[in-house]
Amino acid sequence: MVDLNENKQRDQWGSKLGFIMAAAGSAVGLGNLWKFPYMAGSNGGGAFVLIYLALIVIVGFTLMAAEIVIGRHTQLNAIGAYRKIRKGWGWVGGLGVLAGFVILSYYSVVGGWVINYIIKAVTGAFNTSDMEVLGNMFGGMISGTWTPIFYHALFMIITLGIVIGGISGGIEKFSKILMPALFVMIIMIVIRSVTLPGAGEGISFFLKPDFSKIDFSVILAALGQVFFSLSLGMGCMITYGSYLSKDENIPQSATLIPLLDTGVALLAGLAILPAVFALGFDPAGGPGLVFITLPAVFAKMPMGGLFAVIFFVLVLFAAITSSISLLEVVVSFVVDEWKWSRAKATTIVAAAIFALGVPASLSMGIWDTIIFKDLVFFDALGFLSDQILLPLGGLMLCIFIGWVWGVDNAVKEATNGGKVKFTIAPVWGFVVKYVAPIAIAYIFISGLLA
Ligand code: PFF
Repeated sequence: MVDLNENKQRDQWGSKLGFIMAAAGSAVGLGNLWKFPYMAGSNGGGAFVLIYLALIVIVGFTLMAAEIVIGRHTQLNAIGAYRKIRKGWGWVGGLGVLAGFVILSYYSVVGGWVINYIIKAVTGAFNTSDMEVLGNMFGGMISGTWTPIFYHALFMIITLGIVIGGISGGIEKFSKILMPALFVMIIMIVIRSVTLPGAGEGISFFLKPDFSKIDFSVILAALGQVFFSLSLGMGCMITYGSYLSKDENIPQSATLIPLLDTGVALLAGLAILPAVFALGFDPAGGPGLVFITLPAVFAKMPMGGLFAVIFFVLVLFAAITSSISLLEVVVSFVVDEWKWSRAKATTIVAAAIFALGVPASLSMGIWDTIIFKDLVFFDALGFLSDQILLPLGGLMLCIFIGWVWGVDNAVKEATNGGKVKFTIAPVWGFVVKYVAPIAIAYIFISGLLA
């Protein structure tokens, strides 16, 4: 039972800016800097970008507001929030907590690679533009046994160290430093990239849509990316919204966060693709684009060594402000529902997530057994979270607001009982009730059948 006293002590964001920075920090992460550029690079450049933007407008803004509303209304973790509004719905939040657990286990492995690459950048280890050498270096590192696990542990310890400090004293404090630093660094890299001779081709590849490239698989890839990139479908924004004060303006925040996230994704594309073109590499480098192609690009560009360090530090900052939100989803559940202290909850949950990440890391090396379809454990975790848990969570979220709790109740919370403006509320309600769930269900089912 939650007594009033305990509710009063629940931590809150110290300021509106703090909330925006933390939520944008959650959204901006490896999804923007690592995944988005290579997905755009492999899926027809501007065509992919256009579909992505359309889905952000329709699904992204809508679900962002939906999650924050549920969180702020209930002031509870993802499971408690659903259950408080309607008994029997806690399992939807449960899927989200599970997704947070799963995503962080492999996210932290990739975060570990980034730390390893910062060290490589500082020591000049990859100062070559020979793609074969770079490919072997990357492949050798991630398929190792102890090195990637060591860096995975380090990444997890950093994440734990911030989350243990709580909302205003941990997550908010660090996000307020890391996010502005991230903006400055990415702008520097973009300026470097677009001013390279020959960058124009990359810029137009990225910005000019080639409609012949748009097919269903591109749309599917783009939708999954919208969920992942905006941290939607797993109760992350419910959790962050639950620490929001009752007089904060939700429609405004729900607009600003996707704008910032999309801005950084576009900047990441502009930072990476023009340089890749200018220096004569293949934009369809896939997941190796950041770890293999980009070091080759840095090796060829003036002052590339310095920009390589800046770039990987930037990626690390972005990854950390996201990993802390993933951990917080699970921790807030354990603190609210099991009444553990934050320190105990954070330590034990982080240790368990680290443990799950170990086989994920090893599945790229000594344990490369295919366990599902053609996927090793690492990829199977990604499949489970991105293609099953997040879309399902997003779909249930729409059904829950549109058909169970009711759009009117949600709008009342979103407008602070009529005090703040939410002009497009009728459109929002229509999209939550019909457009978004149908689109998500359609894509989810075809994704599973594909
Ligand atoms: N949005 C993060 C990224 O783009 O890297 C990943 C993420 C964070 C997904 C938090 C889901 C989440 F709840």
